[in-house]
Amino acid sequence: MKKTIVANWKMNLSVKESLSLAKKVNKMSSQNNIIICPDFLSLVYIKNKLKKINFKLGAQNCAPDSFGSYTGEVCAKNLKDIGAEQVIIGHSERRNIFKEDSLMINKKIQEALKNKLQVILCLGENENEKKAKRTKQVVKKQLQDALKNISNRDISQITIAYEPIWAIGSGKTPQAEEVSLLSKYIKDYIVNKYSKKIKVLYGGSVNLSNYSLFLDQTNIDGLLIGGASLKYSEFSKICR
Ligand code: PGA
Repeated sequence: MKKTIVANWKMNLSVKESLSLAKKVNKMSSQNNIIICPDFLSLVYIKNKLKKINFKLGAQNCAPDSFGSYTGEVCAKNLKDIGAEQVIIGHSERRNIFKEDSLMINKKIQEALKNKLQVILCLGENENEKKAKRTKQVVKKQLQDALKNISNRDISQITIAYEPIWAIGSGKTPQAEEVSLLSKYIKDYIVNKYSKKIKVLYGGSVNLSNYSLFLDQTNIDGLLIGGASLKYSEFSKICR
């Protein structure tokens, strides 16, 4: 089964470094569905510099509206026009550092879908919620809020990335079996609500020594990788 591997480069590379890494990824052979998410400027640069792109380009964020007075934001339409096919929405860094609430996340999803961008919706619990065994409740609430007014037709344009906040960039990960069960919980929630199947990815401290544990689980359809996606040797081995 083809897996989906999303590289979230965050704000870690210069424009030139992004292009150089994108060139390497472009030559890589992989059976899987590879999505590279550089920062906005690097996305445009990569799109312009590479003649033929063998992976999908994704943005790390988009604006909650189509146009207007949103200083510093980039709208989904412009991302689509420039060649992005996907957009990450609701990453915990956006939720926590930039204070994006559930209403904002829902608006961004609607904008992305309206402009024919596929959405990678991130969600997951924090450390206290995990300790209090509230993971399922937290994830359910995040799903309910994010997917408000999302139609049956549009739900198939969304992939969920389950990313426990305590696992992101920390070197700590949950057990793959635990993730598989939660993944199943998310899939069942969507099937009950929409009668549709969706993909669920895992993200948080994925690296060369643990990626296969997650990919071996039938309920996990792929990975969202931060740190390890910046190192070509590591990333290419994971993608293969
Ligand atoms: P990480 O980041 O792989 O560096 O933990 C994942 C993410 O934030 O999406």
